[in-house]
Amino acid sequence: MRKAVIILPTYNEAKSITSLVEQIFQATASINNWDVHIMVVDSNSPDKTGEIVENLYKSDHKKYKNLHVLHTQKEGLGKAYIEGFKTAIEKLNPYVLFEMDADHSHDPKKIPVFLKEIENGADFVIGSRYMKGGSIPQDWGIHRKFLSFFGNWIIRLGFMNLKITEWTNGFRAIKVWIVTDSLGHLQNYTGYVFQVALLDNAIRMKAKIKEIPLKFVDRTEGVSKINSGQYTFQTLWYVFTHSSFIKFCIVGGIGFIVDFGISYLFIVVVHTAVWLATIISAETAIISNFLFNNFWSFKHKKLSRKSGNFLWSFFKFNVIASESILIQTIGMELSTGIFGRHYWYIFKILIIAFVIIPYSYFFYNKVVWKDQ
Ligand code: GDD
Ligand code: MN
Repeated sequence: MRKAVIILPTYNEAKSITSLVEQIFQATASINNWDVHIMVVDSNSPDKTGEIVENLYKSDHKKYKNLHVLHTQKEGLGKAYIEGFKTAIEKLNPYVLFEMDADHSHDPKKIPVFLKEIENGADFVIGSRYMKGGSIPQDWGIHRKFLSFFGNWIIRLGFMNLKITEWTNGFRAIKVWIVTDSLGHLQNYTGYVFQVALLDNAIRMKAKIKEIPLKFVDRTEGVSKINSGQYTFQTLWYVFTHSSFIKFCIVGGIGFIVDFGISYLFIVVVHTAVWLATIISAETAIISNFLFNNFWSFKHKKLSRKSGNFLWSFFKFNVIASESILIQTIGMELSTGIFGRHYWYIFKILIIAFVIIPYSYFFYNKVVWKDQ
């Protein structure tokens, strides 16, 4: 029988942990093709959460034979998960690992639904608050609602992966091979940002991702341990350094230099006609952008390398690039027409930053280089 290990990280969850363990075993009792285990990873909680679980096990070895506890130092949520994953893999040989909050925010009745999706072929199942049927708590403060909602959108747009609606919530079922192969990558993300890092890595590994709706319930006992400032910063930094966006901007910059350099060479040094210099320089920049993006910025995305497909993608790239010239021309005509020519360079910078860059990034991701 395949084994599923539910990792429950705890820090001061004394009031919730016993009832949650009971509810999980209840909700999974009728599943007969999975051997469900719970591993509580307690970071030395001062309120003795760890001991409560130890005592629960001691009170009835038989009933709680599938309950395990791991004691760790308090080094962040990500670190607790990493330790829990490692120990579970070493000691229990699981087929699937679960992430789940221990404060009753995640309904144990959903566990069989996650397992069904794994049986149906998913590698990574996400409980999503932002897909149809999912929700965040009504009584969350505006601050937390805002952070969670926009946080998820920034991540979706940064990675240009609009299919996945939930990046941050920690109710997930993940096949063990993905976790094993992600452990190295995760070492540097020991806080809450670990959630984003793990999903990002799974996508790069071409894991089959499936979302199921989840109604997140606000905790009634204890307090949240999230540090929103640090979490926001680390998440933004992660997206900035791991998405294709910076590389895409650098490639654009190189393209600009190529375009300018060749124009200069042809117009000033070789003295060709201006139209000829412009065509040659612009197309050389387009070719250089395409190659750098293909072999660098969007390397992990899929552009079928069959030669026919390569040329077809290059053609689509040319169309998008030409359209951006058209958009820029119209934008410049309109803005200088309305506000005068004096500040033309400000309009140009604004158009490039707020129209051309988002436009190209979006279409390169959607039309030329795709996710899977
Ligand atoms: N072992 C351990 N060590 N557990 C921890 C630590 C830690 O340092 N920090 C938090 N936890 C445990 C909590 O005890 C709880 O069971 C679970 O991790 C979630 O922590 P909360 O403090 O309740 O965080 P939250 O509800 O604000 O966070 C939720 O949203 C985050 C962002 O969307 C969770 O779903 C997170 O997984 C999610 O990343
Ligand atoms: Mn919580």
